[in-house]
Amino acid sequence: DTKHLIISQKEGVGRVQLHRPRVLNALNKELVAELADVLDKMDRDDEVRVALITGGPKCFAAGADIDEMAESSAVEMLLEDQFAQWDRIRRFSKPLIAAVSGPALGGGCELAMVCDMILASEKARFGQPEVNLGVMPGAGGTQRLSRAVGKARAMEMVLTGRSMTAREALNAGLINRVVPVELLEEEAMKLAREVASKPPVAVRLAKRSVLKSFDTTVEEGLDYEQKLFYFLFATEDQREGMKAFQEKRKPRFRGK
Ligand code: HXC
Repeated sequence: DTKHLIISQKEGVGRVQLHRPRVLNALNKELVAELADVLDKMDRDDEVRVALITGGPKCFAAGADIDEMAESSAVEMLLEDQFAQWDRIRRFSKPLIAAVSGPALGGGCELAMVCDMILASEKARFGQPEVNLGVMPGAGGTQRLSRAVGKARAMEMVLTGRSMTAREALNAGLINRVVPVELLEEEAMKLAREVASKPPVAVRLAKRSVLKSFDTTVEEGLDYEQKLFYFLFATEDQREGMKAFQEKRKPRFRGK
């Protein structure tokens, strides 16, 4: 059981709602640890093919819990190593979708960016305001934001703390889609269900291969991609997918 998360599961989609409404879903250590635990479980659960993280209609997450951090020393921060939990989240091997409405700031923006796709409502805001607190992004903000939106925009956001509207984030390539608030949940579930209907092993390896591209040379990335591609010919779903095409019927993927 979790204290700060609401968890549900249907149609192959594991849904996790951040739930600390009184502090705009501020990400305290306990919440992040719970999230890492839940995703670990979902990663091992064959019934879950895609995970969806949302903060509800009002707020995605207003960042790390400032009250919890305010008095920390460098040595405490280092020894506690809360980023180890973030590393566990980053290693989630199935597709991860964020549904963002309201502020996604600091660690909240970083959490959205750990996800593979981001859907936003018209009320979403993305930003890295850490500089206003005398610190800087620590959970991937400087790295993932610059890769997503380029140096110029990332620098401006990180150095001024200014945030982006959903439209700006869409134009910058940070997010996939903007939808009205009342449709966000539905659209996110639709996307999640669509991905959940695909062959799970192919999906998992494809995710891994796309992520690899941010982390290596084209040469090595191509080599990696080829090996994963070959590997998929060891799956039953490859046989099924191609046979179904030839027989002009819908494939039935089993995740093997
Ligand atoms: C703790 C927070 C919080 C946070 C909001 N609250 N953000 N508490 N940590 N990050 C609390 C407020 O203190 C307030 O509590 C309640 O939530 C409602 O917030 P308000 O400020 O009254 O709401 P509003 O005026 O609507 O402003 C919304 C906001 C603002 C613009 C999002 O709350 C804000 O600027 N929050 C901080 C954003 C931020 O700096 N995030 C970066 C954190 S550092 P009370 O008790 O007064 O009602 C970070 C580092 C990441 O994320 C490193 C990786 C872990």
